[in-house]
Amino acid sequence: MTDKNWVKIEFASDTKNVAFARTALALFASQLDWTLDEIEDIKVAVSEAVSNSVIHGYELQEGVIKLEASYEEDILTISIEDFGKGITDIAQAKETGYSSIPEERMGLGFTFMHEYMDEVVVLSEIQKGTKVTMNKKVQAQEGS
Ligand SMILES: Nc1ncnc2c1ncn2[C@@H]1O[C@H](COP(=O)(O)OP(=O)(O)O)[C@@H](O)[C@H]1O
Ligand SMILES: [Mg+2]
Repeated sequence: MTDKNWVKIEFASDTKNVAFARTALALFASQLDWTLDEIEDIKVAVSEAVSNSVIHGYELQEGVIKLEASYEEDILTISIEDFGKGITDIAQAKETGYSSIPEERMGLGFTFMHEYMDEVVVLSEIQKGTKVTMNKKVQAQEGS
């Protein structure tokens, strides 16, 4: 039988829930055989995507964030979706160091997501929202 599983979580857009999402996702991801470093990488990627929804998508106002995660065999897929303001120029948003609020933010969120996950796909529509889907494959561990 294929080893697979999935979870869906919906939560309020609030900076307090960034830690919740990161930890919940780490617990789910732990069902696969990652190194501790890889788990840390996944947590960073999730934190960055969720904070983007809270800070940019909803501009710290009320909103709903959907987190979905699943795996099939050794590939983990995570998606974070908001129904906020959307991204005008996705290519520009992904540039290292680009931030629409440079006085407050470093503009490294998407760079970290790309660095720590194998694939990052961003879909966004103005005034409709943004969905970031990322996946990562478990690397064969030494001695196994
Ligand atoms: N969910 C989102 N909704 C709207 N805009 C977003 C979202 N995620 C990212 N962005 C835009 O992309 C830019 C770059 O994101 P990121 O690389 O995380 O840098 P930072 O968050 O430091 O600004 C943000 O400044 C913002 O303009
Ligand atoms: Mg960011």
